[in-house]
Amino acid sequence: MQNGNDEEGAPSAAVFAETKRLTLRRITTDDVDNLVELDADPDVMFWITGGRPTPREEVVDDILPAFLDYYRRYPGYGFWAVIEKSTGGFLGWVHFRPAEGDPADDAELGYRLKKSAWGKGYATEASRAVLDRGFADFGVRRVHAETMVVNTASRRVMEKCGLSLVRIFHQDWPDHIPGDEHGDVEYAITREEWDAATG
Ligand SMILES: CC(C)(COP(=O)(O)OP(=O)(O)OC[C@H]1O[C@@H](n2cnc3c(N)ncnc32)[C@H](O)[C@@H]1OP(=O)(O)O)[C@@H](O)C(=O)NCCC(=O)NCCS
Repeated sequence: MQNGNDEEGAPSAAVFAETKRLTLRRITTDDVDNLVELDADPDVMFWITGGRPTPREEVVDDILPAFLDYYRRYPGYGFWAVIEKSTGGFLGWVHFRPAEGDPADDAELGYRLKKSAWGKGYATEASRAVLDRGFADFGVRRVHAETMVVNTASRRVMEKCGLSLVRIFHQDWPDHIPGDEHGDVEYAITREEWDAATG
């Protein structure tokens, strides 16, 4: 099952989407080391915590159980491990699920990849795959994403996925991050806009 295929070679339920270069599969308890390593890089965590890594206990006790719970709560939603087909390597994750308090058909997109994977179009490729499945197969009506105004790479991924700027807003975060005085952005795309853009 490691390659996400069942015995007949058909994609299994563990695989959410395939792209040219990537497999998006469920995260499992075997991914603890992958998740700890991802969050151990201060550059990866810069725009999230100011660079502070996530302690292993937090991954084991809080983060992984929350990730696994999404698969139980919502079909088609969750955190998906991004796997590079050419190497089989874990690159990080994309998330696609309603934010706390949002309607079930309004999905929030997010992503976090290892630094070695940046700049190759992987976040865009993975995100477009989850949008595609969400709109086509799971009744998603709208997808939105949020990031800091100054997180240019993240905003660029949103734009390349066809999302448009909705608003700039200010919220309190536990960690001070350079540039946070400029606030956060929300981008969004509706199913109609996605269908029109992708034909
Ligand atoms: C955000 C992130 C997922 C992007 O991953 P990625 O695979 O490099 O993204 P892509 O290659 O698909 O696209 C990145 C785009 O941003 C651009 N970009 C990256 N850094 C940039 C910068 N500092 N200034 C301007 N543009 C930048 C790239 O050139 C590319 O755009 P292009 O294709 O038009 O050239 C990755 O940087 C990451 O994991 N960062 C740490 C976690 C994070 O910030 N997550 C988002 C929190 S909301």
